[in-house]
Amino acid sequence: MDSNDEPDVTGVMVIEPMGNAGPFLVEAAARSGIRLYAATDERVHAGYEPWLTRALAGVCLTELADTARALDDMEKFCHAHRIAGVAVCWELLTPLAALLAARLGLPGNDPLRARAARNKIAMAEAFRAAGVAAPAEAVVTSAEQAHQVAASGRLGWPLVVKPAEQGGSWGVSVVDGPDGLDAAVAAAALVTHAEPHGLPLDARVLLQSYVPGEEFSADTVVHEGVPFPLPVVRKDTTAGRYRVETGHSCPAGLDARTVRAIQEAAARAALAVGVRNGIAHTEVKILPGGEPIVIETGARLPGDNICEIVEAATGVSEAAAYLRALTGRMPDTTPTRDAAATVRFLLPDRAGVLEDVVIPDVPGTHSRLHIRPGQRVPEPADSAGRIGHVVARAASVDDARRLAAQVIAGTRVKVR
Ligand SMILES: Nc1ncnc2c1ncn2[C@@H]1O[C@H](COP(=O)(O)OP(=O)(O)OP(=O)(O)O)[C@@H](O)[C@H]1O
Ligand SMILES: [Mg+2]
Repeated sequence: MDSNDEPDVTGVMVIEPMGNAGPFLVEAAARSGIRLYAATDERVHAGYEPWLTRALAGVCLTELADTARALDDMEKFCHAHRIAGVAVCWELLTPLAALLAARLGLPGNDPLRARAARNKIAMAEAFRAAGVAAPAEAVVTSAEQAHQVAASGRLGWPLVVKPAEQGGSWGVSVVDGPDGLDAAVAAAALVTHAEPHGLPLDARVLLQSYVPGEEFSADTVVHEGVPFPLPVVRKDTTAGRYRVETGHSCPAGLDARTVRAIQEAAARAALAVGVRNGIAHTEVKILPGGEPIVIETGARLPGDNICEIVEAATGVSEAAAYLRALTGRMPDTTPTRDAAATVRFLLPDRAGVLEDVVIPDVPGTHSRLHIRPGQRVPEPADSAGRIGHVVARAASVDDARRLAAQVIAGTRVKVR
């Protein structure tokens, strides 16, 4: 518990804790004596793993795809359990979290701008209004319109084609010329509802000019509209048509000036989409000249075990900082450690049924499988195709990357 002059912040509602950031939130809550409650759908709740069920003080069963009903159910629940803050792990549910916090009069994000943190079309408008450097873009609803935009030459080649609302690189393609455009637009428009909650998605498709350069992410915790930058993380992706994350490393191996420029761009992006008391995960590419261009931001903790590698490298708990911000308290973002960590994902070469995986046991690393032998692995076109991950910790980021690379190189994956 915090000192006596701080408000009672022992109850926090998490709108859908199931997901990559969930375990980190649970751990941070336990460390600071916060009771976590979940809001979810009955069907999703039935699939919760035992560690999550054990960690929750209570569950509000509702229908997250039905905004009006979910808000009513959660409002009643939060009053009954004296909830002091609203957290969220899923990007598509971040506007719902902003609406709930506003309704309860709790610290939270601007509900009028919250849609921009989920919808990449609204995000592009918000970035333009706030002067955040972002790729030039166009919105289309058909392949024919996409060809017209491409033929105008306004966005150049390659073009990035992506769904207005999605995550995990689902439906994102980098297209080199007109031949690939029909398939890319079809892929971006393919998914109309997001599982597991059945949230309806904006069917429009976003075309963006391709931003060259290395990619990083920077998270920003915001308290009463004041941004507190978190450590910058290097992001590695596959090249080519599908840009699937292959890993993340912290520290990012950049000079202090570039780190600051990325953190400033990330903070501007977070504020532009209305993050006021919460956290944002922002992806940034650095042009060869050093200028940061914001690819996207989301009003949530990062996925991909980034919470784990940031804490291993710097001692900063993003989840703890988030819990403080969303309960209206000043976050602590001071690094207490000067080490390094890397996460690398195990991706199959092709789709099929996973027959066998052997991951070598290398000191300084630990691994986890996401897919079990006998289960199907999809084509490695998005993050659903991951077989597992390995985390490596070391004194320097080069050593951490080397250790992780050693594990990946020694891993044997059989897909039939
Ligand atoms: N305009 C762009 N220029 C260059 N690369 C891009 C652009 N847009 C997206 N990418 C690449 O594709 C990846 C996925 O795109 P984006 O982040 O927009 O989609 P997402 O589904 O939210 O992805 P994720 O959840 O995996 O971050 C980016 O991390 C980046 O590597
Ligand atoms: Mg992204």
